[in-house]
Amino acid sequence: MHLHKFEKIWLIFGIAMLAVFLGIVGVQAFTQGQTPAGGMEKIDPEKVDVTAPFDDPGVHQIDEDTYEVVIKAMAYGYEPSEIKVPAGKEIIFKVTSKDVIHSFTIPNTKVNMMVVPGQVNEKRYTFKEPGTFLILCNEYCGTGHHFMHTEIEVVEK
Ligand code: CUA
Repeated sequence: MHLHKFEKIWLIFGIAMLAVFLGIVGVQAFTQGQTPAGGMEKIDPEKVDVTAPFDDPGVHQIDEDTYEVVIKAMAYGYEPSEIKVPAGKEIIFKVTSKDVIHSFTIPNTKVNMMVVPGQVNEKRYTFKEPGTFLILCNEYCGTGHHFMHTEIEVVEK
């Protein structure tokens, strides 16, 4: 088979680049822990109910300006079902799943997390205005997936 000289150069260049890119991704993954779930806290998905902070789901005030909301996701809902937080304060959402992969998504905000069994995912957010916000599951998780939602009530501080 005859290959034109330029074609050969391009092929060698392309293969070399592929090797370089895979090498970079490999080094980052194995030496720096840059995996999709990198840096996330681990949890035993069988023992979510007895592992802190998920043994006490709900809203906890951490200090003057910070609240933590601990939420368990499961087919097909969230626990606790009622969440009430103040506007203008930083809210730290901490989520994990008791069964399969779900999501914790508040439309029109920056809160959009995958909820993965065995992992604790966290997102900080401050609601500017009071109101009722929808929380829904964005990851297909079974036959009840489209029923999986709850609400968060943001009240005047
Ligand atoms: Cu949970 Cu879809």
